[in-house]
Amino acid sequence: MDRLRDEQHGMYGALRRVLFLVPPERIHTLVFAALRGITAPAPVRSRLRRLLAPGDPVLASTVFGVRFPGPFGLAAGFDKDGLGLNIWGALGFGYAEIGTVTAHAQPGNPAPRMFRLPQDRAVLNRMGFNNHGAGELALRLAQYRPDIPIGVNIGKTKLTPPARAADDYRASARLLGPLAAYLVVNVSSPNTPGLRDLQAKDSLRPILAAVLAETSTPVLVKIAPDLSDSDVDDIADLAVELGLAGIVATNTTVSREGLATPGVEALGQGGISGPPVARRSAEVLRRLYHRVGDRLVLISVGGIETADDAWDRITAGASLLQGYTGFIYQGGLWAKHIHDGIARHLHDGGFSSLADAVGSAAPRR
Ligand SMILES: Cc1cc2nc3c(=O)[nH]c(=O)nc-3n(C[C@H](O)[C@H](O)[C@H](O)COP(=O)(O)O)c2cc1C
Repeated sequence: MDRLRDEQHGMYGALRRVLFLVPPERIHTLVFAALRGITAPAPVRSRLRRLLAPGDPVLASTVFGVRFPGPFGLAAGFDKDGLGLNIWGALGFGYAEIGTVTAHAQPGNPAPRMFRLPQDRAVLNRMGFNNHGAGELALRLAQYRPDIPIGVNIGKTKLTPPARAADDYRASARLLGPLAAYLVVNVSSPNTPGLRDLQAKDSLRPILAAVLAETSTPVLVKIAPDLSDSDVDDIADLAVELGLAGIVATNTTVSREGLATPGVEALGQGGISGPPVARRSAEVLRRLYHRVGDRLVLISVGGIETADDAWDRITAGASLLQGYTGFIYQGGLWAKHIHDGIARHLHDGGFSSLADAVGSAAPRR
C-alpha cells in the first residue's frame, strides 16, 4: 500500500511539474474545469466515490447535528461559487466549504493575485473575494442533491462600509442559511481592506448576532492566525456567549517569517497558506480547546499536509479539519490518504469512534 502511495505521489509529482509551468490562477481554473468535465457523468462520480470516499464507519461523526462521512473537508476559497458541488464527495472529501461569497457579486483584486511558494509548499493569495454573489450560489444550491455536507462561507462585500457590515452578512445568511449544512462568518481574510478589524469583539458581536437571528443553521466564525492570544480568547468567549456552533481556525497569515522561497516580499500583499501557517494554526486550536472544550465545535485548517498532521489536530481538539494548499501540492488522492491515515490511527489507538479521539491528547482543563 505504501509503495502504491509512493508511486501515485511520484506520478502526481511529474504531473505537478507540468501544471506548475502555468500561472497559478490560470491552472486553478483549468484544473477545476477539467475536474468538472471528467466527473460530469454520474457513473464516473459513483466509481470515484467508491474508490476515494471515506468508507470506514469509524471516520463518520455527527457534529452540530450534521452527519459527516469523514472529518476532512475542502477549505473555503477553492470553490467560491459552488461550481463543483457534486465533485468534492467523489474526490474523497468528507464535506466542502463553498465561498467566500458576498451579498453582492464582485470581481476581486487585480491579477496577478495568486502565487506559489514552492520551497515552502505554500501559496500567497490576495484574491479579494472574487465571486458571483450570494444570490447565484443560492440558486445553485437549491438545485443540488447533496452527497456530502456543504457549508457556506460568507464575507463582506468590499463596497459595503464597515458600519453596514452586519446588514451585508445578514443578507447572505438569509439567502444561504436554509441551503447550507452550516454557515461560516469570515472576518479573517487579509485581502478585503478593514475586514480583519471586524474580529474586534465590539464589531463582531452585532455581525454574529445578525446572522444568528437570521438562520437556524449552525453558525461558525473563521478567525485569523495573526490574532493575539487574548483576542483569540475574547472571540472564543463571545462565541460561547452568543451560542455559536463553533470556530474555524485559521485563515491565511500575513506573516512572512521563516519562509524558504526567495523574493516573497516582491510579490506584494496577501495571505500565506500551507506549512508556514501550520504551527500558529495548531497553537490557536490548542488555545481554543483549552478555553472552550466541547462547548464549541472546532474546525482546524492551516498547513495540514499529512494524515499525521490531521491526527495531531484531532487529538488536540478539532472535530473537523479542512485543507486547501495541500490539494495543489499533493494531488487528487490527498483527501483519501488523509482519511485512510486517520482511520489507521483510530484503530491503532483503540478508539471506537472519531468523537472519542477528539481532544484526547489535550492537557486536562
Ligand atoms: C487561493 C486561496 C484562496 C482562498 N480563499 C478563501 C476564501 O475565499 N475564504 C476563506 O475563508 N478562506 C480562503 N482561503 C483560506 C483557506 O480556506 C484556508 O483557511 C487557508 O488556506 C489555510 O489552509 P491550507 O494551509 O490548508 O491552505 C483561501 C486560500 C487560498 C490558498
